[in-house]
Amino acid sequence: MKRIGPFSQVVTLRRLPLKGPIADDQLEIITNGGIVVDNGYVRAVGRFDELGRGYPHAAIEEIHGNHTLVPGFIDCHTHICFAGNRARDYAMRVAGRSYLDIAAAGGGIWDSVLQTRAADPHELALSTAGRANRLLQAGVTSIEVKSGYGLSADSELAMLRAIAKAREHTPADLIPTCLAAHMKPRDFSGDESAYIDHILMDLLPVVRNEGLAQRVDIFIEASAFKPSNGRYYLQKAKSLGFVLTVHADQFSTGGAEVAVQCGAVSADHLEASTDQQINLLSRSNTVAVVLPGASMGLGMGFAPARRLLNAGACVAIASDWNPGSAPMGDLLTQAAVLGAYEKLTLAETLAGLTFRAAMALKLSDRGTLDVGSLADVQAYPTADYRDILYNQGSLKPMYTWKKGIRCQ
Ligand code: NIG
Ligand code: FE
Repeated sequence: MKRIGPFSQVVTLRRLPLKGPIADDQLEIITNGGIVVDNGYVRAVGRFDELGRGYPHAAIEEIHGNHTLVPGFIDCHTHICFAGNRARDYAMRVAGRSYLDIAAAGGGIWDSVLQTRAADPHELALSTAGRANRLLQAGVTSIEVKSGYGLSADSELAMLRAIAKAREHTPADLIPTCLAAHMKPRDFSGDESAYIDHILMDLLPVVRNEGLAQRVDIFIEASAFKPSNGRYYLQKAKSLGFVLTVHADQFSTGGAEVAVQCGAVSADHLEASTDQQINLLSRSNTVAVVLPGASMGLGMGFAPARRLLNAGACVAIASDWNPGSAPMGDLLTQAAVLGAYEKLTLAETLAGLTFRAAMALKLSDRGTLDVGSLADVQAYPTADYRDILYNQGSLKPMYTWKKGIRCQ
């Protein structure tokens, strides 16, 4: 058992609304605070000196100087398992070339599929862990990781096994998701529904039996899968026992509706969502995950995070880190910029990076600093929590702890 502190401020993010707006004065801020950690979990939170009286035998991990402690961030949507790079796509895009031009020149998702299929599995695991460790240095202690650059039963399994292997090379928690329904692969001879049946019959049972993922994702979009095929796929995947999530309403609507109808745990992207989808999401238990990194990578507008919150939705913020639309991979910078444009309170942005992101992954043991939660925490070199977002990503955590063990 150990007592960590003192911290100028401890921002617990506990006892806040799970959905809808949050004002900054609702935040619990403990000054001169600390935590007691036992076996990877938070045993107590409070004023550092009082914790000393309550736990006189706990070892002390002393923190010098002014620091602010917050829960570790949770990146609930990434594609960090990939090989190669798509800088050529980016150069074409900023030169004004269209999506179709880029695909015709050999770019787009399919380019990453070819590069990822060709990668050595060990290298793929190591590069995935390398990106996870970069996120961890930036205070992100739990990371969802999608497959989706394999797009055949064998290569999707290879990706999911690489993600499992990556876990051996990072202290961050990696939560895998099967995104075999990212697009119909160009080398598949049948139509969209035949590909979906192929995944359902030849891939998902193996994924389940090998315990490679408990979550299934699909890209519902004019350029990927139609809503009707998406609904069919998600219902079947659910009956196989998978938790559902959807790439929804990125360029056109349809996906969010299917996500809510099928009881998906989250609908992610939502840049194209209108009042109709916003109201639907706000009345549901589906978390609205917004991905400012994709808007920044593509040079498009942000998802309507403010309107979603005002309507009462649960809004989480994730990086979407991928080689195509979101190459930056800096969640804090993206969330801070989104907050500035969308007028999110600091509390709403911090909630979207922590306990609301945990809800998108159905993880109830993290995202707040509370008795019984995982000791996944990060400390910023400031005495004022507002500096974390005010610096728009340029202030990084000085220390990060995963399950109570300091990893920087
Ligand atoms: O979330 N929208 C679809 N999938 C990814 C992009 C993947 C890629 O371009 O490689 C996304 O933005
Ligand atoms: Fe994505």
